[in-house]
Amino acid sequence: MARHLITSAIPYINGIKHLGNLVGSQLPADLYARYLRGRGHEVLFLCATDEHGTPAELAAAKAGKPVAEYCAEMWQVQDKLGQGFRLSFDHFGRSSSEQNRKLTQHFAGKLFEAGLIEEITEKQVYSNADGRFLPDRYIEGTCPNCGYDKARGDQCENCTKQLDPTDLIDPRSAISGSTDLEVRETKHLYLKQSQMRDRLNAWIDDQKDWPILTTSIAKKWLNDGDGLRDRGITRDLDWGIPVKRGDDDWPGMEGKVFYVWFDAPIEYIACGAEWVEAGKGEDWERWWRTDKGADDVRYTQFMGKDNVPFHTLSFPATILGSGEPWKLVDYIKSFNYLNYDGGQFSTSQGRGIFMDQALEILPADYWRWWLLSHAPESSDAEFTWENFQASVNKDLADVLGNFVSRVTKFCRSKFGETVPEAGSYGPDETALIDTLTTRIRAYEKHMEAIEVRKSATELRAIWVAGNEYLQTAAPWSTFKEDPDRAAAQIRLALNLIRLYAVISAPFIPDASAAMLQAMQTDDCHWPDDMAQALESLKPGHAFSVPEVLFAKITDDQREDWAARFAGTRA
Ligand code: 2FM
Ligand code: ZN
Repeated sequence: MARHLITSAIPYINGIKHLGNLVGSQLPADLYARYLRGRGHEVLFLCATDEHGTPAELAAAKAGKPVAEYCAEMWQVQDKLGQGFRLSFDHFGRSSSEQNRKLTQHFAGKLFEAGLIEEITEKQVYSNADGRFLPDRYIEGTCPNCGYDKARGDQCENCTKQLDPTDLIDPRSAISGSTDLEVRETKHLYLKQSQMRDRLNAWIDDQKDWPILTTSIAKKWLNDGDGLRDRGITRDLDWGIPVKRGDDDWPGMEGKVFYVWFDAPIEYIACGAEWVEAGKGEDWERWWRTDKGADDVRYTQFMGKDNVPFHTLSFPATILGSGEPWKLVDYIKSFNYLNYDGGQFSTSQGRGIFMDQALEILPADYWRWWLLSHAPESSDAEFTWENFQASVNKDLADVLGNFVSRVTKFCRSKFGETVPEAGSYGPDETALIDTLTTRIRAYEKHMEAIEVRKSATELRAIWVAGNEYLQTAAPWSTFKEDPDRAAAQIRLALNLIRLYAVISAPFIPDASAAMLQAMQTDDCHWPDDMAQALESLKPGHAFSVPEVLFAKITDDQREDWAARFAGTRA
């Protein structure tokens, strides 16, 4: 038994996440956490909301609420949706927590002591009407290059030219539209990441088993010079963690807060402290400090590819730079993007399917299965309604659901609602046990390597093997000449249902629970020994016929949903 710390990238607070966000971090992290728990390992699985920064402030303003109130409400919404998707976090925290405030200020203090923080005075655009400094992307104006009139201060979306806010013609605040702007001096803290290039390079070079997607992004930023530029870690905003070094004020930094990307990853650690504070666990340092037991923890992070630079360079720079024995990540699983029906999922444009909408039309397992079995691992993936319908109907309804239904109903009609006693297993059953043994070892290998698609393919193959056995054994025919033989076949098939429940739980936890309930067992033992696992339900053991596990998606439903989700969400 090992100890596994798992974190999923923490979602921004400003709005409900879409299915592309879900499959890029939280969902595969949940798959892995559930699998490891199923194998008997000790797991701490943490996630939280990412609550600071301008987007949170603007979303709150748009909702007409104070930002703290907005964040508290949105946390509830995200928490509930996470539960709806059966994300099995040990704790779902908040980056605005007291624990994160303390820890972020603590890290800043340590980095300062280590000489890794520099104070820099720079010029920034101030909006008199808004009473605040404006981040570059909140300044709009006409592009000097192409004349597009909604170019942002960091880049023109039309011609892609990189801009400085002062390049814009007729600049205005994107928040209020005001043109009453001026350039003011302001002081900020910079993390001297460039001084850590060699240490980071060496650390990344050591990670021989990381996925190519992760290391290629990390190396690109590390080597092209730009990724390790010294980085501003403070902002002139009201909402955020006040700039302090430890408990002490930071002269000249009054009224400023840390940059959201500085405090967000620190929340991974603070979330452990929140978990203890919430009474759900003890001793979070045992997971997070190598001087307090965390040296035998394996730490895995999950995230979309856009998050990789922050997790391979910036956050490790914070940890290593602190000079303290914090646990560094052991493995970073990153994902490409999921697209929606010929375009991109987009939060700002409300394009695609969002978590709340998904659960309004179908239970979590349908989505979990499709998303995980089509996870954007080696390349971007695409959601289409046709593909969704086909996968659900075939894999879940025809293969798995149908197996469970046929076996339980046939047994009820011929032998009653208990596991039949007569007959014994013969060569066909032995052959099936061999096949399943080989396949389950492959499934374990893929799950351990976090090869999500391959794991799904193997699981599906295990379901198919049961169906093929049933088709060949044909107990409904055997029953006529040799009822004892049919009884043995059905005994095996009922046991297979329990086995499917156990091994499928990481993908489809609700259906798995329903299968276990129907089999009236809480034997969740992992099938280390297949022959033994298929004897868990003894002759005479009572079971019931479950409700239909998965309903097929009809063409009408598919067309309705495709039409409903064709536009953008208000
Ligand atoms: O991309 C995002 O959704 C960010 N909120 C992820 C932050 S992950 C970490 F740094 F905490
Ligand atoms: Zn332009």
